[in-house]
Amino acid sequence: MAILKMTKTKNEKKLEVILPEHVAIIMDGNGRWAKRQHKSRIFGHKAGMQNVETIALAANNLGVKVLTLFAFSTENWGRPQDEVNYLMKLPIDFFNTFVPELIENNIKVEGIGEIDDLPEKTRQAFLNAVEDTKDNTGLILNFAINYGGRTEIVDATKSIVNQVLQGKIKTEDIDEKLFQNNLLTNTLAEKANPDLIIRTSGEQRISNFLLWQSAYSEFYFSPKLWPDYTAEDLEEALAAYSNRDRRFGKIRES
Ligand code: FPP
Repeated sequence: MAILKMTKTKNEKKLEVILPEHVAIIMDGNGRWAKRQHKSRIFGHKAGMQNVETIALAANNLGVKVLTLFAFSTENWGRPQDEVNYLMKLPIDFFNTFVPELIENNIKVEGIGEIDDLPEKTRQAFLNAVEDTKDNTGLILNFAINYGGRTEIVDATKSIVNQVLQGKIKTEDIDEKLFQNNLLTNTLAEKANPDLIIRTSGEQRISNFLLWQSAYSEFYFSPKLWPDYTAEDLEEALAAYSNRDRRFGKIRES
């Protein structure tokens, strides 16, 4: 989309384009995409997994700093066992296939979620990808795997309570910053909160994703099903973001 490219050339700097540093995506619609083609849901998830690479490369090229992708929620364990098994296999296939390309493009893999509760092969594939890309300085490709926003908040609360009980901190020390430091996203430091959350497939809900971190995020809903979501669609979402007026509860200064 031209509007975004304009920022890159000095002569055409008339339009101020504001890029989100942290984009988070709820990748929805794999099942419906497969159904439309009279294929199994698993077929849709495979196409969805392949699209992760396309969108990660696009985000990296556009200058996004963090891309958080909701790959598996704590609620997804309730799906039929063969679908869960397949969803657990996807990260293994993804990292086996794409890590060399991620390295070539300077992309760093990170993750949030209950990683230790994943099947061992899935956990290991993820940890290997983190290790293999740890020195990269481009896009942080942050996978939310076995992630749930409420669990994250409950776990942070337990951790803070323990720190108080052990005398490491006082109750008066608990503030938003300290709470934030106890969330899974603390590794992202000042980029922990997504500027823009995109959900594909026309659904308009948060589904237990980044509940704390989304307090002042902008939302963008695309009707496209995730396997059909393209780099151009992402550019369109970023262009829409650029036109938003973020006030963080304050008023615009004239
Ligand atoms: C929601 O669509 C999608 C998921 C629960 C899984 C998302 C996972 C991927 C896109 C691949 C992840 C890839 C890696 C590398 C970990 P849905 O199944 O709910 O679709 P529906 O609403 O149309 O049924």
